[in-house]
Formats: sequence, C-alpha cells, structure tokens
Amino acid sequence: MKFLLLMGSPRLHGNTAELCKPFREELEQAGAQVRYVTLADKTIHPCKGCYACQNVEGAYGCVQQDDMQGIVSDILWADCLVLATPIYSWYCTACMKAVLDRHYGLNKFYGSAKGSLWKGRAVAILATHGYEAAYACEPFETGVRRLCKHSGLHFAGLYSVRDEDDLASFQTPAAVEGARAFARSLL
Ligand SMILES: Cc1cc2nc3c(=O)[nH]c(=O)nc-3n(C[C@H](O)[C@H](O)[C@H](O)COP(=O)(O)O)c2cc1C
Repeated sequence: MKFLLLMGSPRLHGNTAELCKPFREELEQAGAQVRYVTLADKTIHPCKGCYACQNVEGAYGCVQQDDMQGIVSDILWADCLVLATPIYSWYCTACMKAVLDRHYGLNKFYGSAKGSLWKGRAVAILATHGYEAAYACEPFETGVRRLCKHSGLHFAGLYSVRDEDDLASFQTPAAVEGARAFARSLL
C-alpha cells in the first residue's frame, strides 16, 4: 500500500513532525511505501478560483506552476493521503489549506470536463493541538469528512495528540503506541 504523508506544520521538527515518526516507521515496517512531504518549505500559492481546471479533461489542469504540481503527482501515486497538521484556529495550517483548496482540478464537477481523478482513495488525519481533542479537532475533521464525501473518497479516520508539554507530549509511550496503532488500522 502506498501512503502520502503531507506534513503541514511550519515547524519542520516540531510536535506534528514528531508524531509522524512512529506513524511512518510502523507503516514502513509493515512493508508500505511512504512518501513524506513537508509543505511549509514548498511554494503552494492559494487557489485563484479561476475554474480553468474544470475545463481540462483527464488531467489536473491547474494553471499555476508551483510545487502543487508535484504534490498532485504524489496524491495520484498514493492509495492513502494522510493530512498531518497542527490545529491552527480550529482548522489546519495555511499551507495545508492551500493544498486542500488546490485539490479542485482533481474533481471535474463545474465545467466542461467530467469525472474525478482521485475517486476511491483514502484520506486520514494525524493532528496535534493545544486544546482537548474533540473540541480542538472537530471542525477540521468535519471539513475533511465532507470533502471526502463530496469527492468520492474514503475517510479512514483521525488520530491526534494534545500538546501539553511541547515535544515531550509526543514522545510518551501512549502517544507513540497510539500513532503506531493508527498506522496499523490504515493498512
Ligand atoms: C497560530 C496558532 C494557532 C493555534 N490554534 C490552535 C487551535 O485553534 N486549537 C488548538 O487546540 N491548538 C491550537 N494551537 C496549538 C497547536 O496546534 C499545537 O501547539 C501543536 O502541537 C503545534 O504543532 P507543531 O509543533 O507541529 O507546529 C495553535 C498554535 C498556533 C501557533
């Protein structure tokens, strides 16, 4: 199975990256292929809302030439897309939101082109947050669940850990084993 792990924190070695480590290790130990892509060091412009992608048949079709083109190739390579993000203002970070908005060309719902390029894939969330889990994560989880339903994707679940003591919170046996168990649940 092929996994694309998109890591959306601006802190490339912060809490979310730390939580990704055992998650990724468990997948790789089970024989899965994993691509780990950090977003904060990439150029991913916001969607312009031009709808040009909606008239391009059979290809992504975004007019913007930036790092999103490579990320789309990785999304199409993967069976499962994992959105790893700190919760920022009750949603994901800005760079991950740019990726979510720029998914538009993967669905051809609003122009002359038809169909979906990524239908049937799985999407999972790995989150870190300061507030209590349900309170912190519910808006983002709800948004991703709706995106999945709208796009014919399978929502595979969420695992999150609360930031109570910065990096140490993500190195506890409970956090590490939870990330590993979540990885196994996706295989
Ligand atoms: C700008 C900003 C906004 C945040 N907003 C929230 C929030 O809405 N809810 C929450 O539970 N935590 C919030 N947090 C806390 C982070 O989600 C938490 O500290 C996270 O573990 C940081 O992960 P990182 O080290 O990978 O960046 C916010 C942190 C920052 C810097």
